[in-house]
Amino acid sequence: MKSYSVKELLSENFLLQEVTVNGWVKTFRSNRFIALNDGSTINNIQCVVDFESFDESLLKQINTGAALKISGTLVESQGRGQSVEIQVKDLKVHGGADPETYPIQPKKHSLEFLREKAHLRIRTNTFAAVMRVRSALSFAIHQYFQQNGFYYFHAPIITGSDAEGAGEMFKVSTLDDKNPPLDEDGNVNYKEDFFGKETNLTVSGQLEAETYAMALGKVYTFGPTFRAENSNTSRHLAEFWMIEPEMAFFDLDANMDLAEDFIKSVIKYVLDNCQDDLQFLEKRLLDEEKTKPQAERSEMALIEKLKFVAENNFMRVSYTEAIDILRNSKPNKKKKFQYPINEWGADLQSEHERFLVEKHFKCPVILFDYPAKIKAFYMRLNEDGKTVRAMDILFPGIGEIVGGSQREERLDVLKEKMAALGIDEEELWWYLDLRKFGSAVHSGFGLGFERLVLFATGMGNIRDVIPFPRTPQNAEF
Ligand code: 4AD
Ligand code: MG
Repeated sequence: MKSYSVKELLSENFLLQEVTVNGWVKTFRSNRFIALNDGSTINNIQCVVDFESFDESLLKQINTGAALKISGTLVESQGRGQSVEIQVKDLKVHGGADPETYPIQPKKHSLEFLREKAHLRIRTNTFAAVMRVRSALSFAIHQYFQQNGFYYFHAPIITGSDAEGAGEMFKVSTLDDKNPPLDEDGNVNYKEDFFGKETNLTVSGQLEAETYAMALGKVYTFGPTFRAENSNTSRHLAEFWMIEPEMAFFDLDANMDLAEDFIKSVIKYVLDNCQDDLQFLEKRLLDEEKTKPQAERSEMALIEKLKFVAENNFMRVSYTEAIDILRNSKPNKKKKFQYPINEWGADLQSEHERFLVEKHFKCPVILFDYPAKIKAFYMRLNEDGKTVRAMDILFPGIGEIVGGSQREERLDVLKEKMAALGIDEEELWWYLDLRKFGSAVHSGFGLGFERLVLFATGMGNIRDVIPFPRTPQNAEF
């Protein structure tokens, strides 16, 4: 008898055939109805057991979480809630799940509780739906770039350079931490370390991606990145996945056009391919929001919100215009912002970004031309001498989802900026070489993958959209 996935069986193409399916028990009602799920879809297949034909000891093992192999005839269902069901002829228990100790029982568990059980939480509908959407989004991302002339570039994970200059890196070392070799000044001598220099886990593959863009034209990275910032928020992970396209001959406008088209395209893909999961997640979100005060509930349901983003233009606003809006905004005047906006040059906090997106423009916003002082060294300086060709994309409910820029391609200007920030030219000699040999206008951006998954699934905490989150004080599993 041929094995099918639950998804295949529910497609109704195999009616009246003898079929086999493997999966885990979601529920077992009245000693008769098994709801079986194998992860292929959010929907279960109902398997009807004639309890008189089976041993009682076998039936006792059919508990929530048990793994089963079931064979029988696929027939039209008499009951409500499903179109087809299996009349069970043969049943084998691969492995049982003791109801006294199996934590994932058929009732509502809090997301906090499930985080402690990250190895089993994927067996809940919510996490299975989120992770299927995450998988679909990854595919859509590769498809988008592959179809648009980009090459997939694998950035190194261990690096000797600090791309963002923020210094929030995890050290990589094999030195004996109790007795490290010291130099003449008494500092740890990294010349004796594995790589002969100080190395870290990368915060961004951008600098290396630039070298490839300056030969292959258009490249993208999609890999893990690491930040040792001690921010315990619902938007930050210490290990997260980032997508970083980098394009030769693209200026900032072309960069913004690409970013907007790219995000819309992958969201459309999810709308077209993940309807069952999205409908489940939409309902979950509605239930969750019922417990919140009216003012905190979102105006759109999940699917409507995704369609809105896929079909409408993002608002493009310069940093200077945004500061004016914020300065004159009600919450600023009423001192409701934790960080009041007084003058040009202030760094924007997530409360400001969310005000612009959720209250003022009510759509995704691309902010561009930020003050040079609050952005990384590699961004191209504008003619005004004080702003750089940076752009951030801000999303409702998320805040910053993309950070990007046109890169400084002029050797002299780049050297000046590095000197002003105390960045050693010798450390980035290869990066400077790009400005010596065949330099050209080029641009790119970084999309935080988990923030995109948060948006697409309507989940509220970034710890719930990555299988095993790494956050301060937490690296279990
Ligand atoms: O704005 P960021 O720091 O930009 C860069 O790293 C550039 N090198 C990208 C580029 O131009 N190639 O990070 C990019 C995005 C942010 O907008 C955010 O979505 C995400 O990465 N991000 C994080 N996501 C989860 N946890 C964190 N700690 C994150 N830090 C950044
Ligand atoms: Mg940023």
